[in-house]
Amino acid sequence: LLKAACVAAVALVPSVAAAACDEGEVVIKFSHVTNTDKHPKGVAASLLEQRVNDEMNGKACMEVFGNSTLYNDDKVLEAMLQGDVQLAAPSLSKFETFTKKFRIFDLPFMFKDINAVDAFQASDTGQAMKDSMQKRGLQGLAFWHNGMKQMSASKPLISPTDANGLKFRVQPSDVLVAQMEAIGGSPQKMAFSEVYGALQQGVVDGQENTWSNIFGKKFFEVQDGITETNHGVIDYLVVASVDWLDSLDADVRDQFMTILSEVSTARNGESFATNQKARADILAAGGVIRELTPEQRQAWVDAMKPVWAKFEGDIGAEAIEAAQKFNE
Ligand code: LMR
Repeated sequence: LLKAACVAAVALVPSVAAAACDEGEVVIKFSHVTNTDKHPKGVAASLLEQRVNDEMNGKACMEVFGNSTLYNDDKVLEAMLQGDVQLAAPSLSKFETFTKKFRIFDLPFMFKDINAVDAFQASDTGQAMKDSMQKRGLQGLAFWHNGMKQMSASKPLISPTDANGLKFRVQPSDVLVAQMEAIGGSPQKMAFSEVYGALQQGVVDGQENTWSNIFGKKFFEVQDGITETNHGVIDYLVVASVDWLDSLDADVRDQFMTILSEVSTARNGESFATNQKARADILAAGGVIRELTPEQRQAWVDAMKPVWAKFEGDIGAEAIEAAQKFNE
């Protein structure tokens, strides 16, 4: 039966080079939405796949489905609870229906860089967040980094008032909705796989994302330019269902968790460089990047930061204070 499921999945997505699963192996399907190469998540997922298939051969078999070929992020967590997929790594902005704790990661200008995000996640407050959805059947296993977000639109964005009246695609997060409203934009929640088409056709005028996503999905081709704001973060939680984890033999679970932890440390250490490479690739491909002076950037801080007060109740003032310490 396991083998049949594995073969069926491969047939569904023929372009994905999936490992052949042997009978009796635990099948681990990992669904994600980004590029599989030149991308922090894509590369980490491929490395995890390779190591599981090499080192756990006979016990487990992993198949990665990137580029939204299996599920969009709005469907993957439900599919996981149904047992149709075992692993996913949605961005922290995509857990709203399961927990409001992750809203801290969406607050604009909360973290000064990815190192501050890393340190906060490693703290007791951050680590406790991995357990915050157990009652809803999900267990966080590891944080994976992407990087800091930039703003892009169909016209130059220098002052936040330039965003007035523009429609922006956002991930499904009420904090991000409030952030875009704070600069006079009109936010629209939309799946990642639909963003390029929506920008191209003018369904939305702009979006916010990391260099690796802007390069990987070619958003720069259908935007006037990208403004280097570093105003927020896109990071991921590798997640599995509590039921699936409980169903694993302890030795299989331990070996898998060790490999996951090693892959996470190794690839998180490369995420900044991967994004900087994507930034350079955008320029090399003719994309326009605009830098802000400290004064110009401060105007974005002033416009967006009032959003914090609106969500302090959900997130907790202590968590915000704890996070701010890592910016020092
Ligand atoms: C997005 O929807 O823009 C991102 O969460 C995509 C991703 O997984 O990086």
